[in-house]
Amino acid sequence: MNRACALILAAGDGRRMKSRRPKALCEVLFKPMLTWVTDSCQAAGIQHIGAVIAPEAEEVARALPRNCHIAIQAEKLGTGHAVMMAVDFLQEHRDKSVLVLYGDAPFVDRDTICSAYEEHCKRENDLTVVAARLEDPTGYGRIVRDENGGLLAITEQRDADEETQLIQEVNSGIYWFRVGFLLEALGKLGTNNAQGEYYLTDTVSIAVAQGRRAGVYRAESPDVILGANTRSDLARLNEIARRRVLQQHLTAGVSIPFPDTVVICPDTQIQPDTVVLPGCILRGCRIAGDCVIGPYSVLTDCQIAEGARVEQSTCESSVIGSGARLGPYARLRPGSQIGPGAKIGNFVEIKNSAIGQGTSVAHLSYLGDSDVGREVNVGCGVVTANYDGREKFRTQIGDRAFIGCNTNFIAPVCAGQGSVIAAGTTVTEDVPDDALAIGRAPQVVKPGWAERSGKYKR
Ligand code: UD1
Ligand code: CA
Repeated sequence: MNRACALILAAGDGRRMKSRRPKALCEVLFKPMLTWVTDSCQAAGIQHIGAVIAPEAEEVARALPRNCHIAIQAEKLGTGHAVMMAVDFLQEHRDKSVLVLYGDAPFVDRDTICSAYEEHCKRENDLTVVAARLEDPTGYGRIVRDENGGLLAITEQRDADEETQLIQEVNSGIYWFRVGFLLEALGKLGTNNAQGEYYLTDTVSIAVAQGRRAGVYRAESPDVILGANTRSDLARLNEIARRRVLQQHLTAGVSIPFPDTVVICPDTQIQPDTVVLPGCILRGCRIAGDCVIGPYSVLTDCQIAEGARVEQSTCESSVIGSGARLGPYARLRPGSQIGPGAKIGNFVEIKNSAIGQGTSVAHLSYLGDSDVGREVNVGCGVVTANYDGREKFRTQIGDRAFIGCNTNFIAPVCAGQGSVIAAGTTVTEDVPDDALAIGRAPQVVKPGWAERSGKYKR
């Protein structure tokens, strides 16, 4: 693909989405549609990418890969006009072929791009249109062929007579052009059509009139054509993408017994024999085999080792060791490492902390900025006071320490290996290995006091 570049048309606004954001940034499986498209271009090995965006669309520019050439289209005068705005980019690559495609049609994939390119090169075409066959072609440009099947023209819905409207083969909006031909054809586009726009599709009849080679590549899946103009369209694309990803995991040996409410993003890897239960959203994760994930867990950018169990929990940018158990209702904030076989129970929050092998933090605790050793028992309601209002400090707890319920650690502080902290202690000073720390007011008992006071009598 070193003789190829790509040009993405992304000047559309989000008006029909009722959004302030540009359309190409609307997300499918939590990834902007535009990024689906640039990822596919890059996966196909295309290094030079240009994009046509609307003025003041900095957000769109930021979503593009680095080194992307950016052209601005101030007035939306049609797809042909959009390409004209990128003439500088095309001049720069005039000895190459260019893939033209849209920023709001996310399902164009590497294989379609590469196979269409092969066809384009093999036939020495000036122009190769990627087409699809649709049961209902309404709204799309129709592929008009001659009696021998040769490509003649693309006719837009609004310019098509009744007979042409019956054609079910449609233009996907994805094309390979020889750049030299495209530059020449752009100069010949007019606006004599139902919408008064410069149609990129007119390059086909221009090629045919000049006796040049124009061909069709039929996409394997009609999905490559799908784009989104409305929120309903987006929901539909999300559903298609979601089902497709689930199917891949099912085929690869992941159990998803009730798939209706499971969302797994394409950037997540899962090994066979792991079970994903309902209500999970998994993004950017690497999950080993024999795990049980869910129900109702949201895991983002996590690594989970074999045999771990994560139930009704929310975890971000964390590593979970083999056989560890999380939840129900645990929360791992970024930078947490849970050792093999450790247990993080209900209503426990861990942040930026390492929890050692076999350690148990079973209930109602907050451990932030902590290094906890192996086989430590952290009782109920233990809290690290890691923040003094200005800075964060660490708490260190040695192997096999026993931390009584309702202990507070005022960081920076350290509890040594094998130490015991009595329930209710506020630890302000380091505790040596194997020592007991107890820091609570001695209890006072006044016999008969309650009886005498009368106040608490039923
Ligand atoms: C276009 C094709 C049609 C094809 C269909 C596939 C033309 C004339 N028609 O129709 O044959 O079947 O796509 O979806 O090309 N855009 C700009 N600037 C503009 C106009 C469009 O950047 O001035 C971008 C839009 O953001 C969008 C894309 O180009 O991503 C398609 O534009 P749109 O106007 O929706 O084209 P269609 O009428 O759907
Ligand atoms: Ca469209």
